[in-house]
Amino acid sequence: MTKARSMPREKGLEKGPSVLREGYLYILNRRKSFQSDVFETRLLGQKAICMGGEEATKLFYDPEKFIREGAMPKRVQKTLTGEKGVQSLDGDKHANRKAMFMSLMSSEELDRLSAILEKKWENALDKWGNSKEIVLYEEVQNILSRTACEWAGVPLPENQVKKRTNQLVKLFETPATIGPAHWQGRHARNEADEWVEELIEKVRNGELEPPENTALFAFSWHKDLNGELLPFETAAVDVLNILRPITAISIYCCFTGLAVHQYPEEAEKLRSGDKNKLQQFVQEVRRFYPFFPFQAAKVKEDFIWNGYEFKKGTLTLLDIYGSCHDPKVWDNPELFHPERFSDWRESPFSFIPQGGGTYMGGHRCAGEYITLRVMHTCLDYLVNKMIYEVPEQDFSYSVVNMPSIPKSKMILTNVKRK
Ligand code: HEM
Repeated sequence: MTKARSMPREKGLEKGPSVLREGYLYILNRRKSFQSDVFETRLLGQKAICMGGEEATKLFYDPEKFIREGAMPKRVQKTLTGEKGVQSLDGDKHANRKAMFMSLMSSEELDRLSAILEKKWENALDKWGNSKEIVLYEEVQNILSRTACEWAGVPLPENQVKKRTNQLVKLFETPATIGPAHWQGRHARNEADEWVEELIEKVRNGELEPPENTALFAFSWHKDLNGELLPFETAAVDVLNILRPITAISIYCCFTGLAVHQYPEEAEKLRSGDKNKLQQFVQEVRRFYPFFPFQAAKVKEDFIWNGYEFKKGTLTLLDIYGSCHDPKVWDNPELFHPERFSDWRESPFSFIPQGGGTYMGGHRCAGEYITLRVMHTCLDYLVNKMIYEVPEQDFSYSVVNMPSIPKSKMILTNVKRK
């Protein structure tokens, strides 16, 4: 057997503090300094491998090489993802659960979601016309949590919108925070789990009858590989895997608002409403701005790749942000240039803001088409269907704090329908 060569290795003990200090750039900085797309380090008290770039992404999404069981840090499960959801599964169990998600993503269902979203956006526009200023990020959270619940068949009485929206937002804003902010996130997770578990109980005992094409119906009645209904808690975690990320698209919408403001010459090209141009702009927002930093997995069995040894059980992080800024894939990655997508040859491993590989066979984000639809609608409203002013404010955003959100959250004034 060929002898493995040694992997570039970061010296010293636990590097968790460096991840907190350098955030989105932690892996990319070391890929540059080691001049290697793969290196070894220590994270969460264990040896870990970090990697990025197209070839490494191909490897990471090979289900024969990596598994997800036990890979996600507890603090992320206790806030963002919940426990025992689709993200934590492998093999046939994962395929069974992922099919449950993808059954909701037909073009008819995406059209239904777009129609709900436009109705909510129009209602919000009526309201915005009466206020002097709005905070785009917060307003869009509200629009999206309402949209998500209606689309998923989840009842959301008007007097609960604020409470439930805040809970959903805490799930994605707090995983990487420390202290009280993080504990608020854990509390929100407990409350949200309880809320949806009760709904599932009501569906199963006939008190609630959501339409059959909704997530609440589908997940309440989904059967696992043994022909059994999912435990209440698991079905609830996966319904929240629909509600939470749809609400989280508010971060991309906020960055979309920022891009329209900061790159007016690019926004000008969208005034004709050309769908391709809108799509290119949306793709560039997903590539350019920081959102999801890394994805974790564990080595399934010992193997050697490019001469480097991967030992069974080793925690491995894929560089999601860095792969979207990799000069080997993107010319001038730090330039906001939507037209780079005009002749984009799609590879499932080179553009991975929401994970790579395939939807059905792997862990690629189940909601990527929803995300594109929502961002497209948001962009079209901002550029072609609304008039507003953008006052002086702090537009800066961090590449350290995760998730990154522009400081001012995009304040707009004198908002009107065009
Ligand atoms: C807000 C923008 C979004 C971002 C940045 C994002 C990002 C991601 C990433 C990086 C992954 C992990 C890929 C992997 O495990 O390798 C993922 C998985 C997932 N996402 Fe998203 N996502 C977004 C929106 C959505 C939406 C709108 C939905 C559903 C409506 C959704 C549902 C899921 C699910 C269910 C998974 C787990 C897939 C699996 O493990 O097979 N996401 N997402």
